[in-house]
Amino acid sequence: MKKKLIAGNWKMNGSLAANEALIKNLLAGLGTPACQVALCVPSVYLAQCQSLVNGTAIDLGAQDVSQQPEGAFTGEVSSAMLQEFGVRYVLVGHSERRQYHFETDAGVAVKAQRALACGITPIVCVGETLAEREAGRTEEVVKRQLAAVIHANGHCISEIVVAYEPVWAIGTGKTASTEQAQQVHAVLRAQLKAASPQADRIHLLYGGSMNAANAAQLLAQPDIDGGLVGGASLKAPDFLSIIASAN
Ligand code: 13P
Repeated sequence: MKKKLIAGNWKMNGSLAANEALIKNLLAGLGTPACQVALCVPSVYLAQCQSLVNGTAIDLGAQDVSQQPEGAFTGEVSSAMLQEFGVRYVLVGHSERRQYHFETDAGVAVKAQRALACGITPIVCVGETLAEREAGRTEEVVKRQLAAVIHANGHCISEIVVAYEPVWAIGTGKTASTEQAQQVHAVLRAQLKAASPQADRIHLLYGGSMNAANAAQLLAQPDIDGGLVGGASLKAPDFLSIIASAN
C-alpha cells in the first residue's frame, strides 16, 4: 500500500522568522513519519525553506507555476526555476487561483505539463463551489476539471497527485463529511483508472478545513490517500497531529 501524503499549503502566509520557527518546530516533533510530508510555500521563501528542509523527511512544494517556459511574463515563475530550488511538488489549479486569477481548466492542464516536464509532481486541485453542489453538479464539475489534465498529459497522468478541495470547505471550518469526501474521491479514482492502468499509485488528497480533530476519520476512507492542509499547516502542533493521524 502506498504511504499517505500530507501536504501543507501555507498560501500567502509567513515571514523569514515565522518560517524558520515553524519548520524547526515541525522537524523537532516529526521523528520518522510513516507518511510523506510536504510544505507548499510562497515562492520568495523557496530558497530559505529549501535550506531548512534539505536532508529531512519534509519535501518542498510551490503554490503555482507559469504556463510558459520562460520569457517576457512579468511576475511569473517557471517550472525550471522551481526545479533549481529542489521543489518536488507544485499546486496547480487551486480554487483561489481559479477564482481570483481566472485560471481555466485548459491553463491548469498546461501548468501540470510544465511541472511534469521538469520532474516536478503537480498537485492538481479540483472542487465544486457551494452553488454547484447545491445544483447537484459536483461530479460533473470535478470530472470536467480533471478531464482537462488527463487529456493534456496522456500516460504521464500516473505521475500526478489530485487534491479534491470543495470550495465551500476551504478556510470555512466546514469540512466535507467523510461520506461526501469519499464519494467524490471514488468518482475521481474511477476516472483516473479509466485513463491509466497505473492509477492506483496516484495520491488523492482531501483538502478543506482538515484539522487535528477530523483528519483521522477522513484519512481512514479507502480513496483518501492524504490531505492538503491550509490553516492547520501553519501551527506545528496541529500539522504534526494530522501527520500522526496518517501514520
Ligand atoms: P484550509 O485547510 O485552510 O481550509 O485550506 C485548504 C486549502 O485550500 C489547502 O489548499
